[in-house]
Amino acid sequence: MSATPSELRTDGSRFDLGAGRPTGEIRKLTSLLEVSQALSTATNFKASLHRVLDILEKSHDAVHSAVALPVSGQSSLDVVAEVGGEGRSDRRPPGPHRVPGGTLARQVFSTGRPVVIPRMSREPTFGDRRAGADEGSFVCVPLVLNRRPAGVLCIELRFKPERHYERTGKFFGVVASMISHAIKVQQLLETDRERLVQENVRLQGELRERYDFSHILGTSRAMHAVCEQMMQVTRTNTTVLIRGESGTGKELIAQAIHYHSQRASKPFVKVSCAALPDTLIESELFGHEKGAFTGAVARKAGRFERADGGTLFLDEIGEVNPAVQVKLLRVLQEREFERLGGVDPVKVNVRLIAATNKPLEDAIAAGEFREDLLYRLNVFTIFVPPLRERKADILLLADHFLERLAADHGKRIRRISTPAIDMLMAYHWPGNVRELQNVVERAVLVCDGDVVHAHHLPPTLQMADTSEASATQPLATALAAFEKDLIQDALKMARGNRAKAARLLHATARIVNYKIRKYRIDWRRFR
Ligand SMILES: Nc1ncnc2c1ncn2[C@@H]1O[C@H](COP(=O)(O)OP(=O)(O)OP(=O)(O)O)[C@@H](O)[C@H]1O
Ligand SMILES: [Mg+2]
Repeated sequence: MSATPSELRTDGSRFDLGAGRPTGEIRKLTSLLEVSQALSTATNFKASLHRVLDILEKSHDAVHSAVALPVSGQSSLDVVAEVGGEGRSDRRPPGPHRVPGGTLARQVFSTGRPVVIPRMSREPTFGDRRAGADEGSFVCVPLVLNRRPAGVLCIELRFKPERHYERTGKFFGVVASMISHAIKVQQLLETDRERLVQENVRLQGELRERYDFSHILGTSRAMHAVCEQMMQVTRTNTTVLIRGESGTGKELIAQAIHYHSQRASKPFVKVSCAALPDTLIESELFGHEKGAFTGAVARKAGRFERADGGTLFLDEIGEVNPAVQVKLLRVLQEREFERLGGVDPVKVNVRLIAATNKPLEDAIAAGEFREDLLYRLNVFTIFVPPLRERKADILLLADHFLERLAADHGKRIRRISTPAIDMLMAYHWPGNVRELQNVVERAVLVCDGDVVHAHHLPPTLQMADTSEASATQPLATALAAFEKDLIQDALKMARGNRAKAARLLHATARIVNYKIRKYRIDWRRFR
């Protein structure tokens, strides 16, 4: 049997609920609870202030109430929420409104001390009240933030001779302190939001700059063709397949396409298909519903959903299992899918860029990759040539990496010596640009002068060198490379004059000529 209001008990005492209204104290506590809920739940701060004033009007005889905050940088107050009186401020034209209580409210704001006026008719400030208006009482309490007045809460009450005005003032003081707290939280959120927005703008700019087309270096004809294809495809929403050996720059290209497309401000989400185990990849890509499998304690959005509006980059697409291939095919055809364990289709607006270093045709022949999926992915294919097929780019890339990595490691290295360049050019670069980057980084670390010499390059490149030293003679190899290097440098400085080069090396012309023949240095090319 449910209790009737008059039987309700909390601490054992009986409340006078006979009139259908709780006693004053209960009413105040109930209101404080409601005020705290209103301030903590509303997402719009102004709306929550209105809600608080509504509560005061409904349960506390307020006929007109307002919250006024200082106009930024000034001492005047502006009403931000108002209930009763001439109406709500949100229905009035925008702009500063008269604060109820006028000079009294400003006095409370400047002194930080509350004011309680039981009879407004006896207070000269309210001389301009409408003639014939009922007698009212006025309460104005300061909002205090960090021990300084930050605004006011003003309430005009219906006059009641039996009202305990001191308690009334205290009650509104508590309401004011709750509002102050909410303002503080609001300001913190606002500062945080502002910081995040600024951070986001900065990062977006940084990303755009980093993946600027101009950061994809290459003067070879092959790379020009790649850049042209990228330009064509950035303006579209077409699926792109990027093919090329490991380390050729496929990911860099995928990012550049995204950051130059209209989707640039939306997410670029990468999925390394080879790095995810078969059991995880499906839920990673498509998400799952709560309870889809053991451990699925809540619904989770997959990477497709997280990339909504932006680009999803599927790296090493050749590694995905047949079940995921079927689902990918459907997303490409219908732009929708279901989360794992779900039945409702999820629609997404995602541009797909896939990359592979595997010959997918071989995988199709072996029955590991669906032919129809390749057709869907193959709408626009960019082939990134291996570095050995675009030798013209090697020096440009090496110089670029040298400049960047030397700065990173705080070293002043000006250039790469000619013999070292010859070795870089002779090498077949199975790891492509990534390997070149690593080789330059190693050279920067071991180089103690201002020139990268041949002996700063790793042994794998020494083997590619044309000098006759064999791999079983690492010391002789290194010495020979170093000597050849020094002579070529001297020849370069002497502009091919062998006698002058000999003087620079503090050696005789006879010895230098002998070494030039020994190392088969073409001295004429330095003229
Ligand atoms: N043309 C280029 N200009 C400047 N840097 C490049 C260029 N190509 C590649 N790089 C750099 O080389 C490194 C490897 O590139 P990336 O990761 O894009 O290669 P990938 O083709 O995705 O390799 P993998 O198949 O192994 O994943 C990166 O650090 C990238 O910045
Ligand atoms: Mg990659």
